[in-house]
Amino acid sequence: MQPFISRDISLIEHFARDIIDGLSKENNKKWIKPRYLYDELGSSLFERICEQPEYYPFRTETGILKRYGQRIFKFMDDDVSVVELGSGNSVKTRILLSSLLEKQKHVFYLPIDVSQEILLRTTHDLNREFTRLNTFGIAADYSEGIREACNISAKNGTMPERKFVLFLGSTIGNFEYQEAIEFLTSLRASMREGDFLLLGFDLQKDVKLLEDAYNDRLGFTAAFNLNLLSRINRELGGEFRETDFRHLAFYNTEYHRIEMNLISKTTHEVHVNRLGRSFSFLKNERIHTENSYKFTLEKMKDIVERSGFQIAENFLDHNNLYCVGLMFANH
Ligand code: AVI
Repeated sequence: MQPFISRDISLIEHFARDIIDGLSKENNKKWIKPRYLYDELGSSLFERICEQPEYYPFRTETGILKRYGQRIFKFMDDDVSVVELGSGNSVKTRILLSSLLEKQKHVFYLPIDVSQEILLRTTHDLNREFTRLNTFGIAADYSEGIREACNISAKNGTMPERKFVLFLGSTIGNFEYQEAIEFLTSLRASMREGDFLLLGFDLQKDVKLLEDAYNDRLGFTAAFNLNLLSRINRELGGEFRETDFRHLAFYNTEYHRIEMNLISKTTHEVHVNRLGRSFSFLKNERIHTENSYKFTLEKMKDIVERSGFQIAENFLDHNNLYCVGLMFANH
């Protein structure tokens, strides 16, 4: 089956408007939303980041899923349909899907991702790999994707109503505190009491380990960050030179987050043709491109409980680097 493709996500107007807003700011307040890091090239650079030895979140989360996959499904008495937010290439999901296929005759899997290319590839690969799996890809942002997932399951008479929603990879860490609560609350509103949410989140730890993870030796994180400027060139006719900026990622101990920035090496102006605008940069001025929050278990408990979920169990690795929490939707 062809994936659902939202008409909204391809809208270049959103990108154009956000670039004008973000780059017009002065006093070191320039900001581009992290979602724009993930065009086709950005998404494949992110896949490479996940393979780097310094980027522990990916392999640690994978290890937790391998170790606890069976135990997670012990909490579920009924058959479930799997909905995944920000599925990417679904590498980790394969572990869960194989465990679930040992328990259920058929599994319906609805991955939601903004990248159509990745979704097409994944849907095709998964349907070939697992014979008792039905994959319905949804190319949309999270809110629209969830709505569409609910439509699909309402229309399809054979899909189990009980949902198992996956939100892995510590993407929740890229939201601000209030945004995370608003997002999880609206997710909860689209779920029924007793549905499950599996949430992957990164934990606070040694600063060196954290900073190394965002400054890998081979420079994939830097390339991922700088690609944002090339994306503006490709899609909006910008005249950025990646070499005029450098990648800076550091841990902010006050806010418990990694901050990713692009630092202008010189004072200069950049014209963006399709916007008919130029933007000026001072030497050492930053464009803030991402926050990646690191949590304590208590902090995440507070966030999920305020959003209408209750923790069933938290699964951690041996070194307490990372947590995958199984939550269920409260009444
Ligand atoms: C997707 N997200 C959880 C990643 C993170 O760790 O915040 C994105 C990333 N940025 C740089 N490296 C990885």
